[in-house]
Amino acid sequence: MITIRRARAADAPAMARVHLAAWRSAYAGILPAGYLAGLSALREGAAYEQAILERRGGHAAFVAVADGFEPGGAGVVGFVTGGLARRPGIAEGEVETLYLLDDAQGRGVGRRMMRAIASHLASLGAQSAFAWVLEANPSRWFYERLGARLAAREAIRFAGQPMVQLAYAWTPIHTLLSATAVTRLPR
Ligand SMILES: CC(C)(COP(=O)(O)OP(=O)(O)OC[C@H]1O[C@@H](n2cnc3c(N)ncnc32)[C@H](O)[C@@H]1OP(=O)(O)O)[C@@H](O)C(=O)NCCC(=O)NCCS
Repeated sequence: MITIRRARAADAPAMARVHLAAWRSAYAGILPAGYLAGLSALREGAAYEQAILERRGGHAAFVAVADGFEPGGAGVVGFVTGGLARRPGIAEGEVETLYLLDDAQGRGVGRRMMRAIASHLASLGAQSAFAWVLEANPSRWFYERLGARLAAREAIRFAGQPMVQLAYAWTPIHTLLSATAVTRLPR
């Protein structure tokens, strides 16, 4: 079984491992291979640790952990982070990252992680929420499946390439809370 719980600073190295694996899988063919190869677990881990400790703007992280692997972080199969929106104009709360190892996908864990961050954002007083996603990332259909509406489209440069990013929003945030409501036992 997989449990979702608030992340601790000690989870940061495991979160970084999931980050690298998810990026190298999800963004293969979308981002340059050299960029993906150059991702650093040490750098990402330090950033996640700092974010967990600082809690800037109500920032929080939740990890999905496969039972039987604690302690040591080996069981972390995914995580979600978010807080109050980093820039105004789209929605009040922001889902900043959402990653799951390939093996753990398709079993409802993504929805449960979105439930955790949605509840957290609502507890901060956010009346609405959004997430950025690259247009080329098929995971954007996951957000649509959870009831999000396209709220913004932006041309950006990422990893030295022109790309398009989309903001998907849940307004009001209750649309996300409803779409992620517990309706069945976790698998
Ligand atoms: C996006 C992600 C977290 C989804 O997690 P998941 O556990 O596989 O999703 P769930 O099993 O909870 O799926 C919930 C629903 O969304 C649907 N869904 C999931 N991924 C989907 C996709 N890519 N396209 C369309 N629908 C999708 C499921 O079919 C399910 O529908 P249901 O209501 O019929 O049950 C996961 O695929 C992932 O980590 N992807 C790679 C990293 C990434 O791109 N993250 C987003 C960066 S912005």
